[in-house]
Amino acid sequence: MARSAVRFVLDGQVIELHDVDPTRTVLQFLREDLGRTGTKEGCAEGDCGACTVVLVEVNRDGDDLSLKAINACIQFLPTIDGKELITVESLSPAGGELHPVQRAMVEQHGSQCGFCTPGFVMSLFALYKSNANPTREEIDDALAGNLCRCTGYRPIIAAAQAMLAATEGEDRSDWLRQPADSVQAPGERLAQLKALAHEDSLEIDHAGRHFFAPTTVDSLAALVLRNPDATLLAGGTDIGLWVTKQHRELETVIYTGRVAELAEMSVSSTHIEIGAAVTFTELMPVIIGQYPGLEELFRRFASPPIRNTATLGGNIANGSPIGDSMAALMVVGASLVLRRGDATRELPLDAFYHDYQVNDLAPGEFLERIRIPVARSAAIVQSQKWSKRFDQDISAVCTAYYLELDGDEVRHFRMACGGLAPIVKRAAHCETALSGQRWTEEAVERACAALQSDFRPISDARAAADIRMLAVQNLLRRFYHETKGDVESTVYTYGRAR
Ligand SMILES: Cc1cc2nc3c(=O)[nH]c(=O)nc-3n(C[C@H](O)[C@H](O)[C@H](O)COP(=O)(O)OP(=O)(O)OC[C@H]3O[C@@H](n4cnc5c(N)ncnc54)[C@H](O)[C@@H]3O)c2cc1C
Ligand code: FES
Ligand code: FES
Repeated sequence: MARSAVRFVLDGQVIELHDVDPTRTVLQFLREDLGRTGTKEGCAEGDCGACTVVLVEVNRDGDDLSLKAINACIQFLPTIDGKELITVESLSPAGGELHPVQRAMVEQHGSQCGFCTPGFVMSLFALYKSNANPTREEIDDALAGNLCRCTGYRPIIAAAQAMLAATEGEDRSDWLRQPADSVQAPGERLAQLKALAHEDSLEIDHAGRHFFAPTTVDSLAALVLRNPDATLLAGGTDIGLWVTKQHRELETVIYTGRVAELAEMSVSSTHIEIGAAVTFTELMPVIIGQYPGLEELFRRFASPPIRNTATLGGNIANGSPIGDSMAALMVVGASLVLRRGDATRELPLDAFYHDYQVNDLAPGEFLERIRIPVARSAAIVQSQKWSKRFDQDISAVCTAYYLELDGDEVRHFRMACGGLAPIVKRAAHCETALSGQRWTEEAVERACAALQSDFRPISDARAAADIRMLAVQNLLRRFYHETKGDVESTVYTYGRAR
């Protein structure tokens, strides 16, 4: 039996909502329905972090809780069903003591106009609860999704360090036994959320619009087949903006975030298998463990709150020409398991895109899993992201390489690029120019020339066409020099404190 009421926990109380507008955001609900205006709206598109809140959920084994910072401005309300929502007001009830995070922000002068402050506090709260001893780099990363336009970051980073120093020795990771920032007694929270996180599916009808949240892949497949025009919603980090920025009305939404099979991830002796609804935060350690050369790419993918909800399946299915994961997955030989009704088929990722926003999915078909070969020891795999800002920026171009050498001869070379064509695609002429050649500067120069036959880039706000081409050629040259040990193997540390 499907349920139609959305239920979640806020400050220890179960909130039950009926007749919810499926695309009402958590931020609209907090500010407009509850009058909880501590959570701010800066951009309404996941960029500034002013709306950061924390979600708590029962882990997969059902024996513990996990928490994550998210952007309330693009999170649709029905997607927090079964979870606990923590806002800045939850940390310190009116008239109560400040939370250590808030106290540190006050004492370190981490706020001026204050508009960004609740968002920073919530990102710091998530860090405080999940990392007992973060490095400076981890603090920078945790704050990558929060923008401040008047205080500057130095006092905020000082606050992060001070909050940790002030509570040194406390076991913050074991946060169930930490009632300090909860109105509940230890352990109650887990029991309460377990009781809420039902196995049943959710179905909402609101003013002629529909929202389905099935819990099994079979029921998802049947729903998608019956509703081929429905919008499949995963993390909503692309779709959220269709609603908040383009004001699109989504008639039928099918949410994949509660489908158990799509949240699974496994590693065999040949493949990493990733369900389409696995988030970037969850998959990053697994992919980086296999392919360390992709670390920079994934750590520069959006920000922690976006990565906490954004899925690999959403990135691939959205198919933006400047999407970041696809070039890397293409060069390592990833394939997609697509499902329509009961039938599945496997397709190489580099055959999935036909043209701008046109892919191989048939009506009623969806992406079920992504299959990535495990790393071969002889291969060098690397990806480079070129954007105007280091953190939280969309690529102007994004490149990826797969290189296997036999002595100094190229046995296999694959390269793929985003930002140079209407789709992310392999650089076929460039690959041919290097195949079987000696891995030398001269051969790489010939490959750079061949790139001109592979791509005809366009000019836009991010970069002019000729600059894009030159950038990609220079990135390939850089990759060559990295393999020769002439330059540091990553730019990640550039300008960042370790
Ligand atoms: C602030 C911000 C920063 C960002 N930074 C980056 C970045 O650095 N690099 C980058 O590449 N992207 C970036 N993005 C874009 C976005 O986060 C990614 O594309 C993300 O992976 C989308 O995943 P999602 O789960 O949120 O997808 P959703 O928004 O839920 O869906 C995206 C599309 O995929 C379809 N879809 C989802 N799941 C399936 C499925 N199983 N089968 C078929 N279709 C499906 C949806 O119908 C929709 O068309 C950013 C977005 C924001 C808001
Ligand atoms: S309001 Fe800017 S990220 Fe949400
Ligand atoms: S304190 Fe004003 S934007 Fe950060």
